This record gives sequence, structure tokens and C-alpha cells, in this order.
Amino acid sequence: MSRVQKNLLNPKKILKIIFYLGLIFVLTFAFISLSNAQKPPKVDLGKHEFESRCASCHGRSGKGDGWLADFLIVRPTDLTVLARNNGGVLPTDRLYQSIWGNSVPLHGPSDMPAWGRTYRREAPEVYFGGPYYPDIYAQGRILVLIEYISRLQVK
Ligand code: HEC
Repeated sequence: MSRVQKNLLNPKKILKIIFYLGLIFVLTFAFISLSNAQKPPKVDLGKHEFESRCASCHGRSGKGDGWLADFLIVRPTDLTVLARNNGGVLPTDRLYQSIWGNSVPLHGPSDMPAWGRTYRREAPEVYFGGPYYPDIYAQGRILVLIEYISRLQVK
């Protein structure tokens, strides 16, 4: 009995236990941070694009209540009711034209910047002098936005 007690209180043994517990702790921590580092961050391209370039007028929710809206002559469209106002179907072709900017004559003078031209102009910055098609690049950017707008629709 006294031998067991002597062994239990042996300071060398206690130090050893503390050392191994510490080691397990450090390894677990390293493992967790490594496995987190390997996960690619989730990026919602459409949301990011919408919030950085459209929300100023259309609002983060898409309802047309962005901070710039009060300064515009034409009120930004409420983008959340587009499907409801079109028999439950998102009018993607019309949206495409509106965002690209081709449909401006149809609307008359418009406060909506022509995004097709903007994205075409930005294409060279992304391709660093390699071969690229500005139209296809701009189309991709607009389709990503339409996909995001489709997620903003009210039932
Ligand atoms: C400077 C303010 C402003 C910004 C920024 C802006 N819009 Fe607009 N948007 C408007 C206005 C104003 C209208 C209404 C135009 C009209 O009725 O002639 C409009 C209309 C639209 C429409 C037309 C909807 C329909 O019924 O056809 C779509 C789609 C749209 N915007 C999407 C976007 C997207 C996507 C972005 C970001 C890339 C964006 N807008 C950025 C002001 C803006």
C-alpha cells in the first residue's frame, strides 16, 4: 500500500504525465488548425458581386432600398418580385438585357449603369494579357448575378 502511494506521488512521474498531456493537447490543436486550413473558404460569387456593385441602389435584400436610391430620378426596381410579377417565372432573358444594358432604349432614359460594358472593360485585369473573350467573360459575370437574383425571389 505504501509502495503504491509512493509511486503515485513520485514527482518525476507527475511531470511525465503533465508532459504527455501537454503533448496530446498541442498535437490536437495542431491537427484541428491544419484540417481547418485545408478547407477551401466558401465563396458565394453572386452574393459578393451583388452586395458590392448592386446593393448601393437595389439594397442588400434586392428590394430597391439601397442608400443611393433616394438620389435617383428613376427608382431602382424591386428585384425580389420579378418572378411573382411574371407568373412565377423569373424573366431571365429580360434580366440579362437589363443588366447588360441593351434594353435602355426600351426603358427610356435609365439610371442603371450598363454592366455589360463595365465587365468587358474589366476582363483584361483578370486574364493578365493571356487570350480571353471579353463578351464571354461579361456574360459569365451577368449569369452569376441572375442566379443570385433568382435566390432573392419571394414566393
Ligand atoms: C446606380 C444605381 C443602380 C445600380 C448600382 C444598379 N442598378 Fe439595377 N436598376 C437601377 C434602376 C434605377 C433601375 C430601373 C431602371 C428603369 O426602370 O429604367 C434598375 C433596374 C434593374 C433591373 C431591371 C429589372 C427588370 O424588370 O427588367 C435589373 C435586373 C437590375 N437593375 C439589376 C441590377 C444588377 C444586377 C446590378 C449590379 C450589377 C444593378 N442593377 C446595379 C439602378 C441601379
